[in-house]
Amino acid sequence: MVKVLFVCLGNICRSPTADGVLRKLLVDQGLTDRIEVDSCGTGDWHIGKAPDQRAQATASKRGYDLSVLRARTVHIGDFEQFDFILAMDESNLKDLQGLAPLHLHGKIRLFLEYAPSSGLTAVPDPYYDGAAGFEHVLDLVEEACDGLLEDIKQSTLK
Ligand code: 4NP
Repeated sequence: MVKVLFVCLGNICRSPTADGVLRKLLVDQGLTDRIEVDSCGTGDWHIGKAPDQRAQATASKRGYDLSVLRARTVHIGDFEQFDFILAMDESNLKDLQGLAPLHLHGKIRLFLEYAPSSGLTAVPDPYYDGAAGFEHVLDLVEEACDGLLEDIKQSTLK
């Protein structure tokens, strides 16, 4: 099993969006028995909460159901358990690197490394934005999930 963990700040906007998008790709491509996905946040304000209504609504329009997801914080065991630990922005990346044992830092990277044509390194935090911010997040997340899945298929599932 390949295990993917998406990480943002609150675990109610960006990382659950990525979780829902990759989850659907795995179902559609019959890969749920090969690849597992989860998401979490570095902050603890929203533990136990469902994704932000704006994130859910934006995702739902494109066929992704985020309603079953619940926010949790990252914990130390995640660094052992997951193979790909993907940060939404540089701040999340720094926080993860501060928490992880040094020998596991290689698993941690920026999610948008898998969306090189976006020209961005970070998925912008949409929390204080309007609807357009959430559409932009979803555009970036869809592109990066496609890139990530291709990478996993070529590098790991072969
Ligand atoms: P996320 O967005 O990190 O993409 O889930 C945020 C959600 C909540 C807050 C910040 C960012 N907050 O400050 O509560």
